[in-house]
Amino acid sequence: AGTGKFFVGGNWKCNGTKDSISKLVADLNGAKMENDVDVVVAPPFIYIDQVKNSLTDCIEISAQNCWVGKGGAFTGEISAEQLIDMGCQWVILGHSERRHIIGEDDEFIGKKAAYALSQNLKVIACIGEKLEEREAGKTFDVCFQQMKAFADSITSWENVVIAYEPVWAIGTGKVATPEQAQEVHVAVRDWLKKNVSTEVASSTRIIYGGSVNGGNCSELAKQEDIDGFLVGGASLKGPEFATIVNSVT
Ligand code: G3P
Repeated sequence: AGTGKFFVGGNWKCNGTKDSISKLVADLNGAKMENDVDVVVAPPFIYIDQVKNSLTDCIEISAQNCWVGKGGAFTGEISAEQLIDMGCQWVILGHSERRHIIGEDDEFIGKKAAYALSQNLKVIACIGEKLEEREAGKTFDVCFQQMKAFADSITSWENVVIAYEPVWAIGTGKVATPEQAQEVHVAVRDWLKKNVSTEVASSTRIIYGGSVNGGNCSELAKQEDIDGFLVGGASLKGPEFATIVNSVT
């Protein structure tokens, strides 16, 4: 951790019921969490209202996706304006599950980011390579290309957090080593310096995601360029999520 306030997001993905979410919210409300950390949770769209109405204001709310532009005749989509209306402050964009399972491409994701930011939603912009890309020595190429698509659309980085999530580490229990994560984080920061600005490079938080849990978070958090986490599975357990939030101390 080295840049800005430590940031921990919980991406609940397509999990939960009214009951399980009400228990999770109660656990989060009761957990002791560091004040000096930005904590955000991302429930499925349909539970955002429930969470907003029951969760402590110390934790902000993110959506897991949103539409690329203004709302209208787009069946099944949710617009940035609607998220703002529901009290959402953040949106996760470019998550690997949307890239690789749903088929969203770099340009579409970049446009989504620009539109969300224009509506005052803050963006968690995700990047990351697949296993075969890492094995082929293409990790930096892939991450830089995904960064370029964001940079082509984003004009102000103030409300952006970058999440590096190597696809092979997501939901697999195979966490990146602190060195592997740090190596990419520093490379992404360097990319920002060369391609955006020194100021953006030194002020933008780069968080890590992929099998983060209560046991491996503190070693990762010690790395200079790991400014927080985006947590999947372990964010569904309130006490473990709190441990991850507190890992910066
Ligand atoms: O967005 C967080 C995520 O993709 C990581 O998931 O379950 O490996 O922590 P998980």
